[in-house]
Amino acid sequence: MAFSGLRDCKAWLDSGLELTTHSNEACKMYDAAVRQYTTWHNDATLGGLEGCISRIKEADPNFVMGHVFENGLKLIGTGHSVLLDEEFARSIKSTIELAKKQSITKRERLHVSAVDLFSRGSLPEACSLWESILLDHPTDLVALKFLHDTYFYLGWQQQMRDSIVRVLPHWKPEIPLYSNVKGMLSFGLVETNFYDQAEKVAKEALAMNPLDAWSVHAVAHVHEMKAEVEKGLVFMESTENDWKDSDMLACHNYWHWALYFIEKGEYETALSIYDNHISSGCFKSGTMLDVVDTCSMLYRLQMEGVNVGNRWKKLVKVTKQHIRDHLLVFNDLHILMSLLGSKDKESCDQLIGTLKEHLREPGENHQFTIAKQFGIHLYEAFIAYEEGNYSEAVELLYPIRYDIVKIGGSNAQRDVFNQLLIHSALNSVNKEHHKIARCLLMERDILRPNSPLTKRLIQRATAIHGVA
Ligand SMILES: [Fe+2]
Repeated sequence: MAFSGLRDCKAWLDSGLELTTHSNEACKMYDAAVRQYTTWHNDATLGGLEGCISRIKEADPNFVMGHVFENGLKLIGTGHSVLLDEEFARSIKSTIELAKKQSITKRERLHVSAVDLFSRGSLPEACSLWESILLDHPTDLVALKFLHDTYFYLGWQQQMRDSIVRVLPHWKPEIPLYSNVKGMLSFGLVETNFYDQAEKVAKEALAMNPLDAWSVHAVAHVHEMKAEVEKGLVFMESTENDWKDSDMLACHNYWHWALYFIEKGEYETALSIYDNHISSGCFKSGTMLDVVDTCSMLYRLQMEGVNVGNRWKKLVKVTKQHIRDHLLVFNDLHILMSLLGSKDKESCDQLIGTLKEHLREPGENHQFTIAKQFGIHLYEAFIAYEEGNYSEAVELLYPIRYDIVKIGGSNAQRDVFNQLLIHSALNSVNKEHHKIARCLLMERDILRPNSPLTKRLIQRATAIHGVA
């Protein structure tokens, strides 16, 4: 997929998004990088995202937006901590210094500040700056995508949806990546339970560009949220050739595919997708999206009573590299799943210990605030469940269940926490918890009808405790 019409200095200026550089090559490679980020596809003919970023810096080492994009992308990836990576911290600092020395636009200056804020854990404040940019420049895709992705991490679902809704009228079909922006709208719609609209918008986007892996993903979510297992399976199989080469998202789309098989109770098929596409993708890329999917898939299978063999042991080699990151509570919890799954108590203690050190520090880090408010109970609940203290896991999880959205991720991804609470309540020795299990299963059955997984849990509840 080579991109046509990459924009030079004049083309960026004409589109109202002036870039402070005299290098047409830097501008074109910046365009190529943004397009790859948005389409979730490393284009080998361009050297992938990394190749383009190198070429931007070669063409103009002083191009501020090139540095902003490189640092922002690394931050949005949530796999690099500026607290642990001195070179990364220096890169952000030197970008700020570079910006001070130059006469750049107000928009570019806001970008520099937004990335700086994100790097210091001030995610809501970074969003405010990207919002400011979009008020005057609604087609600034870097601001839009960074904003959209950060709202996702914050669990601010309505803001994630509306960030696209309010700029979309300014986007015209001839603007590059128009259909991808529609795909982003579709995802915002599905996360705020507008399933029919989400599917319609995603299908419109796919009619314009069938290779849009993010719009495929939005449809996968619609089928997941409606427990339309067979429709989901047909859709993923029939579109696989269109999205399997979107290397940054393929693993996640396969994860969605495998979820349908878990729903059906076809665990061997889910494991086969895990082995052939999910864990293999994760081991290759090491990106946090792939890491969390891999952990989540094994944990879900394990809760279903599946023996996942030595897969945790293999996976923990990747996850252990991130036990001190603490960039997102959401990521931490998935890493914790793998440490518990592989019975690596030492690493588990390190993860919890280093997190608690951060929580004792003063500061405005949003994720640490979330962890202090309620997130820490999630970590403790996983440990309690692992130790067979199901009653304690319920006591920890049940009071905070409506807060969990604030750790970010999608509704489908966070379902692992819903399932953990239900399993804890079913396994608890406390009879009050059995009533909670019944209530949770009734909620689940009504909100997501015809889910085979829910039916199995209801059957189990009836068989074990006579509660359903
Ligand atoms: Fe997803």
